[in-house]
Amino acid sequence: MAGTSAGEPVLYRQDGRVAIITINNPPVNALSKQVRMGIADLLVLACDDRLVRAIVIHGTGRNLCGGADIREFNTPDRQIRPMTRELMNLIEASDKPVVAAIHGPTLGGGLELALGCHYRVAKEGAQIGLPEVNRGVVPGAGGTQRLPRLIGFRRALDMIVTGEPVDAARALEYGIVDRVVHADADICAAAVGFALEILDDGSGPRRISGMGIDVDAATGGEIVAEVRARLEKSARGMQAPFRCLESVANTLTMPFADGWAREAEISQAAVASVESRSLVHAFFAERQAAKIPGIPADAPLRPVERVAIVGAGTMGGGIAMSFANAGQAVTLIETDAAALERGIGRIEANYAATRNRGRLSAEEMDARMARITGVVGLDAAADADLVIEAVFEEMDVKQAVFRELDRLARDGAILATNTSTLDVDAIAAVTERPGDVLGTHFFSPANVMTLLEVVRGRETALDVIATVMDLSRRIGKTGVVVGVCDGFVGNRMLAPYFRQADFLVEEGAFPEDVDRVIEEFGFRMGPFRVSDLAGLDISWAIEKRRAGTRPADERFSPLLDRICVQGRYGQKTGAGWYRYEGRSAVPDPEIAALIRARSDEMGIARRNISDDEIRARCIYSLINEGARILEEGLAIRASDVDVVWLHGYGFPRWRGGPMFYADMVGLSEVVATLDGFHDAWGDKWEPAGLLRELAEAGSTFKKWDAAKTA
Ligand code: NAI
Repeated sequence: MAGTSAGEPVLYRQDGRVAIITINNPPVNALSKQVRMGIADLLVLACDDRLVRAIVIHGTGRNLCGGADIREFNTPDRQIRPMTRELMNLIEASDKPVVAAIHGPTLGGGLELALGCHYRVAKEGAQIGLPEVNRGVVPGAGGTQRLPRLIGFRRALDMIVTGEPVDAARALEYGIVDRVVHADADICAAAVGFALEILDDGSGPRRISGMGIDVDAATGGEIVAEVRARLEKSARGMQAPFRCLESVANTLTMPFADGWAREAEISQAAVASVESRSLVHAFFAERQAAKIPGIPADAPLRPVERVAIVGAGTMGGGIAMSFANAGQAVTLIETDAAALERGIGRIEANYAATRNRGRLSAEEMDARMARITGVVGLDAAADADLVIEAVFEEMDVKQAVFRELDRLARDGAILATNTSTLDVDAIAAVTERPGDVLGTHFFSPANVMTLLEVVRGRETALDVIATVMDLSRRIGKTGVVVGVCDGFVGNRMLAPYFRQADFLVEEGAFPEDVDRVIEEFGFRMGPFRVSDLAGLDISWAIEKRRAGTRPADERFSPLLDRICVQGRYGQKTGAGWYRYEGRSAVPDPEIAALIRARSDEMGIARRNISDDEIRARCIYSLINEGARILEEGLAIRASDVDVVWLHGYGFPRWRGGPMFYADMVGLSEVVATLDGFHDAWGDKWEPAGLLRELAEAGSTFKKWDAAKTA
């Protein structure tokens, strides 16, 4: 047996008639130039060796190969030959059969490498797919040309436009792999065994590039049209899914070599796109949010084993479900048996609905319900390590709960409030332990929404923040640390956005115009449809409560009032800003009349408002408020504000978040537009100081973030 030294990025050894080429480039066996050149050289060695009859490609560590090396992006190393996409062809050209030994995540370029091989053996637990579309790009190393030839046009198209990976068993069913071996098996030995079988039965190299497509051009064309129509709904405004579609569709009309060459062009255009930069930004922004200045990654955390939730209403129930879904038992506390019964009943109904849709098994539902123990009386919180309060949104009620918790909770317990509008410091102040108090602002429905604003009070201890951030990850949430202010980060930015939506209808637009523009921008729903879904009675109640304290210049449209007095509370009552036919919103002439009357009453001559103006007024009001929040130090970084909007409010991920979007528009352009609005409508539009400062310096929020962490 021949061998090379263990420190090299690609190793070579021989096991009888089989040569084994091992990628050894931790942490993920990315295809750096050394790896590419190493594989190419060793292929030649194996092919020239008369004693070698077959070749296995395998990876050390946790997977076969993690694809292209991201450290080489935008560097000349990427162009060093063989380039990634050429390597797959070199492997395929081997006249001795090549078997890929697949284990661990084998995605993107990793799978493309395996598709360049002639056969594939996978270990249980492997994850196999082409998820490039989720980063705004297109598989660029033959994936769009080989996968359809291997598993069929429709299936490959689906996998590539959705980016959804499959497990080893599914990969076998689809024909992506030829054999699956047990999770305990030695994958390299299994691939060698498979290679020997091929040699014995005389199957030679099986090159995917030489295979035909399983559908004729007409059938293929119908499938393309069908998928395009689906994407036009689900991926409106995006480019990458359509680029993937185009490249896969080329297999219907082009020979492999032409489709492969065209794939490179399509892929390069995608790599250079704003969409791809935005998606990559979103990915890193999420990771970054978990890092808190002053808290080392290995900071000691407080143990959280017993969790109590106070209040079994809408939010308390949803929060309890989040914990139960993640396998964590919770005690759910109410003031009386009837309220508790209602609360538990709602949770049960919620799970039952999921079960009835076939998305939860009866056993799993029972297991989750069993993790939620309902109790009457706050004494049950005495032994909890973490208490989350979700009672009525009234300062007196919350302070009473916290006084009581202060008296009975164990030393070191974390006391959290789910308040959405009240001052966390004022709640903490009634306790003798404000360092243990913070806000955990979950979003509704709490069992579904992934955002958690972790509200740091004036005195909140660092280990309390660190513990809750860690916990948020454990229950499947994305935690973002924010400071205490009205509305925290998300709702504070939402207020001026909604205010603009109201002003726009007073000035000449209709709800359906504003919603259409915002939905075309990429939000799943515009502001009026969102309000109808959330329930207008909720915002009405908040408005009424705040009416007395609102500054005089913060005029709010009375339209909400006028709609609500008619009992139109939104989708749940069949009418709100729209009329509802089932779930579909239909513009309502009665609302149009109400809006026109309001304009008349204000002496406004209604005008045609362009889509550009609607978009700029809604989105730039978000950006400006986000900049003020950063200026006031209420979010750690601009990318955190983006994460809040991506996870809590459905900001289109492929635009990266409001602050990154501002960077892409160009901050001086944003400021110039805001200046124009300021001239027209006054002080509310004054560009935030930080925004102007960055614009004048020709800088970006991204650079501002980087300078802070440097
Ligand atoms: P809710 O009215 O549905 O539920 C409150 C529950 O607390 C009721 O079941 C009530 O019986 C119970 N409760 C009241 N006093 C109690 C006490 N002393 N001990 C134990 N239980 C008590 O209210 P919801 O909507 O669940 O809101 C709860 C909190 O979450 C509020 O602070 C709210 O601002 C906040 N929030 C609400 C969101 C929403 O969309 N509904 C979103 C984010 C935060």
